[in-house]
Amino acid sequence: MKYTIAVIPGDGIGPEVTDQAKKALDAVAEAYDHIFLYKEAQIGACAIESTGGPLPKETIEVCKNADAILFGAVGDPKYDNDPSAKVRPEQGLLNLRRELDLYCNVKPVKAYDNLIYNSPLKREVIKGTDFVIFRELSGGIYFGKKELSKDKKMAYDSCIYTVDEISRIAHLAFKAAQNRNKKVTLVDKANVLETSRLWRKTVAEIAKEYQDVTLEFLFIDNAAMQLILNPKQFDVILTENLFGDIISDEASVISGSIGLLASSSIGNHNALFEPIHGTFHQATGKDIANPLASILSASMLLWHLGLHEEADAIERAVEKSIALGITTKDIKRKTQKSTSTSKVGDFIADYITNQDDSNMNFKNIHMGQSTII
Ligand code: IPM
Ligand code: MG
Repeated sequence: MKYTIAVIPGDGIGPEVTDQAKKALDAVAEAYDHIFLYKEAQIGACAIESTGGPLPKETIEVCKNADAILFGAVGDPKYDNDPSAKVRPEQGLLNLRRELDLYCNVKPVKAYDNLIYNSPLKREVIKGTDFVIFRELSGGIYFGKKELSKDKKMAYDSCIYTVDEISRIAHLAFKAAQNRNKKVTLVDKANVLETSRLWRKTVAEIAKEYQDVTLEFLFIDNAAMQLILNPKQFDVILTENLFGDIISDEASVISGSIGLLASSSIGNHNALFEPIHGTFHQATGKDIANPLASILSASMLLWHLGLHEEADAIERAVEKSIALGITTKDIKRKTQKSTSTSKVGDFIADYITNQDDSNMNFKNIHMGQSTII
């Protein structure tokens, strides 16, 4: 089959990790006889430099016309440290989410057995953790009216949610729970916030349609604590935009590295796939960034296109690279030699092309040569 994939590498390490995901997709195309047509577009700081704005019109068009979108990262320290900057790279991503109405962000969080040592949390706490975060992505405080007063002494951001916005993601979360361990935990701050009370009421009503799924409620402050005290209690976490942003980064600690977590952002007409890590500017261009989250994003993309076997092939290759220790520095034991970003990508692509272990020359990997005999 032929698919058009919009590729938006963005800033920082975005381009180099996205290149590795493309290698994996190319290997899938060859092994399973598909054609992936990449349409590259700009976003973020690089788009500001070349067009003056963080989200050029062409980028929106390319995304709208694609079967799926593969995204890298946006941001630049230059803008982070300038609170008066009128344009910001992040606006590109936020506006794209808004333009395409990508309202449902899905982040699977898993403790890989082979990487448990890399997490600062205790082995017995995280072993067996497997949950998924459903974060509302197109509403809430991110998009509510915001203002800085003329004298610059007062500012506000309003948090707004409608029943419809809550319902559409809640249904997706319950459906996901039906195919998993049948539990949804709604994370909110209903003891303080009106929007949270609307979430509780709406989600409790929807829960009646999913009798096989248990619904639990947790306040965000408690949830932040439970996530590291006992992460195994979770199956599907459903939450609003800002809380979801925060606990997603927290949850990445469980998997051993933020460099491992992929995510999908789904709307009714488009879907975007991106690593949850940011631009990691200190690593840009050094060939040391972990490409696995981007490669796993490509796997989620294939799954979304209905290419389940192909998606599994990427996941297996990632698991193999972790098991063999063909990984970047961030998930290495101190005494082990690390593999570069591009070499990890080469290994994954080779493994997809040649899924039978017996033909792999594992010695070559560490010499930086092709892995297939
Ligand atoms: C994320 C990021 C974005 C967000 C930034 C880059 C605007 O942190 O995707 O989690 O806050 O949503
Ligand atoms: Mg974030």
